[in-house]
Amino acid sequence: MTQTKWWQKAVVYQIYPRSFQDSNGDGIGDIPGIIQRLPYLKKLGVQVIWLSPIYQSPNDDNGYDISDYQKILPEFGTIADVREMLLVAHELGLKVMMDLVVNHTSDEHYWFQKSCQSKTNAYRDYYIWRDPVNGHAPNNWLSDFGGSAWEYDAKTAQYYLHLFSKKQPDLNWDNPKLRQEIYTMMQWWLNQGVDGFRMDVINLISKRSGMPNDPEVADGNHGSSMVFSANGPNVHQYLQEMNQQVLSKHNIITVGETPGVTTNDAVKYAGFDRHELQMVFQFEHTELDSSHEGLGKWSNERVNLVDLKRILSKWQTNLYGQAWNSLYWNNHDRPRVVSRFGNDSEVYRVQSAKMLAATLHFMQGTPYIYQGEEIGMTNITLSSIDQYQDIDTLNAYDDLVSQKKRVTPEQMMAYIHHSSRDNARTPMQWDNTKNAGFTTGSPWLPVNSNYQTINVSDTFSDRESIFYFYKKLIALRQQLPIITTGRYEVLDLEDEFVYAYRRIGKNSQLLVISNFSDQPQIRHYNFGTITSLIIGNYKDDAGDILRAYETKVYLIEM
Ligand code: GLC
Ligand code: CA
Repeated sequence: MTQTKWWQKAVVYQIYPRSFQDSNGDGIGDIPGIIQRLPYLKKLGVQVIWLSPIYQSPNDDNGYDISDYQKILPEFGTIADVREMLLVAHELGLKVMMDLVVNHTSDEHYWFQKSCQSKTNAYRDYYIWRDPVNGHAPNNWLSDFGGSAWEYDAKTAQYYLHLFSKKQPDLNWDNPKLRQEIYTMMQWWLNQGVDGFRMDVINLISKRSGMPNDPEVADGNHGSSMVFSANGPNVHQYLQEMNQQVLSKHNIITVGETPGVTTNDAVKYAGFDRHELQMVFQFEHTELDSSHEGLGKWSNERVNLVDLKRILSKWQTNLYGQAWNSLYWNNHDRPRVVSRFGNDSEVYRVQSAKMLAATLHFMQGTPYIYQGEEIGMTNITLSSIDQYQDIDTLNAYDDLVSQKKRVTPEQMMAYIHHSSRDNARTPMQWDNTKNAGFTTGSPWLPVNSNYQTINVSDTFSDRESIFYFYKKLIALRQQLPIITTGRYEVLDLEDEFVYAYRRIGKNSQLLVISNFSDQPQIRHYNFGTITSLIIGNYKDDAGDILRAYETKVYLIEM
């Protein structure tokens, strides 16, 4: 790494617009609602916000199915609202990153509508069409949301590929005209003043050569061929082209969402000398609790700390000096971290949320905070499947319970309470008034019943709150260059209860110690002498005794 770039010191805050703040009482968060809350994000201290998609969409997958990249979904507001949001954000010194969903569009996008009309029309080749093979789909690939990844179109007697829902047809990036349309659209957004892109499943844009059968697909399993089909032969060529034609012309932030990547892949996507992306979201630590029984991500297993440490440490070490990491516990696709890797009981929620925050925020990379994480929002336990909205959850229930009968309804509900994407999507909890201050109407997804005790307003009046802890972590990153540049070294990898690591700089070191258990632990780490405690989640320092979910970070000057 040469000189530190602004985005290497930044902390990003992800907004899921539908659930952030409703301004007009229709129960759906919107852009005026975001504008209203920008001072809150300023107070937290983040430098960048990332918005999940706000574009025109039939909402089959909550906006990740876009029918017009240059129009705003009316529920969210207008392009004038977006301009106003950019203006206010920039005045506050906040940068704005947009979600870019270009592996697929909605089937209601006019490109796809035209593509369906005939085999020979100009848009046919914007998507991936194949002839049937022996009267069946061209291969056995599975959609990430269940069922075949191919949908038959009777009118033209061919199948089209959709790695997600059948209302999300995959674009054909091998078509140069399509690529130019995308670049022009990206440039248009940059002209509006946006400061970067988070690129949805961007390593899927070039499909595996020859599209062979996926050997992992087995009868009765709930799988996905997303990873098998990923990292195709032309993906780097296309990203370099995008970089050359669009990204390199602007001082922006880019992150690619890249399921299934190894650290070697990441060095290709985000290597300092590669001219592709600045960083990627890897999936390894978020898939540790996936099923071992062929049920895809559906399980309710607890993650083993040693496995978690091994993965995060591998990413810290293998990318050092070569590529940049993104750091995240949460996003709109993952359950709440305090419920998952911490302890969301009344006794330990606050301590364990702070412990998880410190553990992640002292690593090398750009941290991402997902809305509500900074106040320790938890998973939700809805009693009936009918209360869920997420297509992934609903399809999996249908597939595993109703169709395949592999899982009982009770078991599936337990998996959903642990893993459903709706855990992350319940409305933001602002205060203890009706609907947590999210809406005056009826919220599109239930508000978590714990909003009376977990909300932003109460967090402000408590100096010991999770919110102020995050604020301090964000400020420390600005003050201490070692957090950005230091080399990472894990300590006692096999320790099952404590996660300890060092960051090693030229003249100083950081020692980060986190107790992931509800039991006291005794540990002794001996490095240098002149130490100061820069942050911790207990009032005092008990030396070698680590209390339940205790975290503490020492600065060691050498
Ligand atoms: C990404 C998004 C997810 C979406 C999928 C298809 O994984 O984060 O929400 O369902 O891509 O666009
Ligand atoms: Ca609204």
